[in-house]
Amino acid sequence: MRQRPAMREAQHGSASLRNVALGSRPCTVLIGDGHVKMADLPSERAANTRLGRAVWGNVFVGGLGLGLFVEPMLRNPQVRSLTIAEIDPDVAALVAPYLPVSPRLSLIVGDVLALAAPFQQHGALFDCIHFDIWLGTVVTAHGAWLGDYAQHLREFDQLRRVWSPLLTDDPAAMMTAWIGGRLRALRS
Ligand SMILES: C[S@@+](CC[C@H](N)C(=O)[O-])C[C@H]1O[C@@H](n2cnc3c(N)ncnc32)[C@H](O)[C@@H]1O
Repeated sequence: MRQRPAMREAQHGSASLRNVALGSRPCTVLIGDGHVKMADLPSERAANTRLGRAVWGNVFVGGLGLGLFVEPMLRNPQVRSLTIAEIDPDVAALVAPYLPVSPRLSLIVGDVLALAAPFQQHGALFDCIHFDIWLGTVVTAHGAWLGDYAQHLREFDQLRRVWSPLLTDDPAAMMTAWIGGRLRALRS
């Protein structure tokens, strides 16, 4: 798979890509509705690379962001298909041109909460489901949570309930979420 080209600064509706300097290192930041949605930081790359190695089979991811997980997942030969849902059409329009062209990859514009029912009606099943839709939940040096972590956990619980029927009955099938900088594994 060819290396993804550097992202260029661009604006689409309320979303934009900005290239900033992080010390001596260039960093692409995705901004949507006035919030930083994602930054191409080494820590984010490393986490998404680890995630790409951990999944297999038919994979569903909620939240495209900069799509840092896409190449690691598609490079993984155990991944049969990768379906991504992104709620913000402007983010999808900005980032889609940088995604690899692959018959294994589909990008849908929609809300993960609303998408479980139609997927279920079509008999879709996934081996791995991962959610990374939350913004602004970080831990300060003093250990305080910034962002509404409690609300994020409630949403996570709701997602678990509506998406659990879409996991295959393989006992290894997994549902995870990136929340508050921690990867949480869920079982129904
Ligand atoms: C933190 S970013 C995802 C970062 C991503 N893992 C990456 O590699 O760049 C969160 C993304 O989830 C999207 N999002 C937020 N709520 C969503 C929802 N309910 N359904 C689908 N996408 C959602 C946001 O618009 C944003 O693009």
